[in-house]
Amino acid sequence: SSGKLWGGRFVGAVDPIMEKFNASIAYDRHLWEVDVQGSKAYSRGLEKAGLLTKAEMDQILHGLDKVAEEWAQGTFKLNSNDEDIHTANERRLKELIGETAGKLHTGRSRNDQVVTDLRLWMRQTCSTLSGLLWELIRTMVDRAEAERDVLFPGYTHLQRAQPIRWSHWILSHAVALTRDSERLLEVRKRINVLPLGSGAIAGNPLGVDRELLRAELNFGAITLNSMDATSERDFVAEFLFWASLCMTHLSRMAEDLILYCTKEFSFVQLSDAYSTGSSLMPQKKNPDSLELIRSKAGRVFGRCAGLLMTLKGLPSTYNKDLQEDKEAVFEVSDTMSAVLQVATGVISTLQIHQENMGQALSPDMLATDLAYYLVRKGMPFRQAHEASGKAVFMAETKGVALNQLSLQELQTISPLFSGDVSCVWDYGHSVEQYGALGGTARSSVDWQIRQVRALLQAQ
Ligand code: ARG
Repeated sequence: SSGKLWGGRFVGAVDPIMEKFNASIAYDRHLWEVDVQGSKAYSRGLEKAGLLTKAEMDQILHGLDKVAEEWAQGTFKLNSNDEDIHTANERRLKELIGETAGKLHTGRSRNDQVVTDLRLWMRQTCSTLSGLLWELIRTMVDRAEAERDVLFPGYTHLQRAQPIRWSHWILSHAVALTRDSERLLEVRKRINVLPLGSGAIAGNPLGVDRELLRAELNFGAITLNSMDATSERDFVAEFLFWASLCMTHLSRMAEDLILYCTKEFSFVQLSDAYSTGSSLMPQKKNPDSLELIRSKAGRVFGRCAGLLMTLKGLPSTYNKDLQEDKEAVFEVSDTMSAVLQVATGVISTLQIHQENMGQALSPDMLATDLAYYLVRKGMPFRQAHEASGKAVFMAETKGVALNQLSLQELQTISPLFSGDVSCVWDYGHSVEQYGALGGTARSSVDWQIRQVRALLQAQ
C-alpha cells in the first residue's frame, strides 16, 4: 500500500509531480478548525448510532482537540503525504490516539466532509463580512448626516445635471450597499445547510442521525439529496456573485471619488493615510486606495466567472474539479475583507472642499427648475421644457449665464415669466423642491438617513 488513506488497491507510487498537482493542503489548511469541528460532531453521531463506544468517542474527541490545539499553536507538522486537510487531520489523530482513529471516517466520505467544512467556514466568513459591510454603511450614513447641508453638482453621463446634496450622493452608494448586505444574509441562509451524512454519493448506510449532526453543528437545515449535496456548489457561486455585485458598487463609488479628488474637480481630498506619492513627480498624491478598490472588482469577477466555468458541463456528483472552489472562496473573502475596511477608512478620513463644491454649481444646472417654474404657472411640461431650452440657447448666444437674462428677455420666450423667477436661481431653493421621498431635499435626505439607520438597527 502507498501509505495513503485510499492506498489499499494501489501498488504503484504516485508520480511526484502528480502528487503536488493533486494536493490541496497548501490552501485548504485554512479549514483546519472547521474540519475538526465537523469531525467532532460526526463522532458524536457515530456514538449515537452505536458505531463507537462512549470511551472510543471520548478518545477521538480528546484527540481532535489535541489536533486543533496544535494547529492553533502553530505546532502542527504537515508531512509530505498530507494530501489535504482531511487526510492530514486524520493522519495526526491516528498518531495521537492509535487505531481508534480509523473508526472516525465510518460512513463518511471526503465528499460530504469537504463540503461540510466549506459551508462551516463560509458561514463564519459571511458573518464577518456582514459586520464589515455594516461598518462601512454606518460610516457613510454618519457622514451623510453631518454634511447634509453641503450642495454640489450632480452628473448624468458625467455632464453637469442638477444641484444635489453631497449627502444624497453618499446615500446613493450606501443604499446600494444595504442591498448587498441583505443579499449576503440570503446567501448565508443557503450556505447554512448540512451535507454531512451524505457519504460519497449514496447516503449513509449506518443509521447516522443527520438531525443530530445538524443540531451539533448548528445548521439551519439538512440537504435533501446525497448526490446533490456532495456536488452542488451553488452556494459558492452565489457567494462569489454577491461579492462581484458588491465590488461593482464599491468600484463605482471609488471611480466617482477618484474624479472628485482631481485638481479639475477638487471636491474632496483623500487622507494621506489612503494615498501614495510618485517616485518621480514630487507634487503627486495618488488615490491608490480607490484605484485598488476599483481593480479588485476585476479579480473578484474573474473568480466568479472561473467557478462557473469549472462547474459547467461537469457530470453529476463529486469530481475533483470541485477542489478548485476553495481558492476562489479564500481569495475573494480576503479581498472583500480588505476592500471593505479600506473603503471605511477612506470615507471616514475624506476631507471635503465645500467651497469648491458650491462654486462648481452653475445656473445652467437650474434649467430644469426654470421649466418647473413655468409648469407651476400652468404651462404643460413639454412646452415648458422647450421654453427653458430657448432660454439656455439665448444665454449661450449672448454669452451670459442663464440667470443673467433680463426679465424682458425671458418674457420674449413666454409671458408667464415674472419677477418671482429670481427665486429659481437659488441653489438651496432648488434642492428643497425635491421633497418627494427619495429626493435630494433636506426632509427626504433625513428620511433616507432614518431608513438606513433602521436597517442598521435591525442588524
Ligand atoms: N481535497 C478534496 C476537495 O477539496 C477533498 C475531497 C476529495 N474527494 C475525493 N473523492 N477525491 O474537494
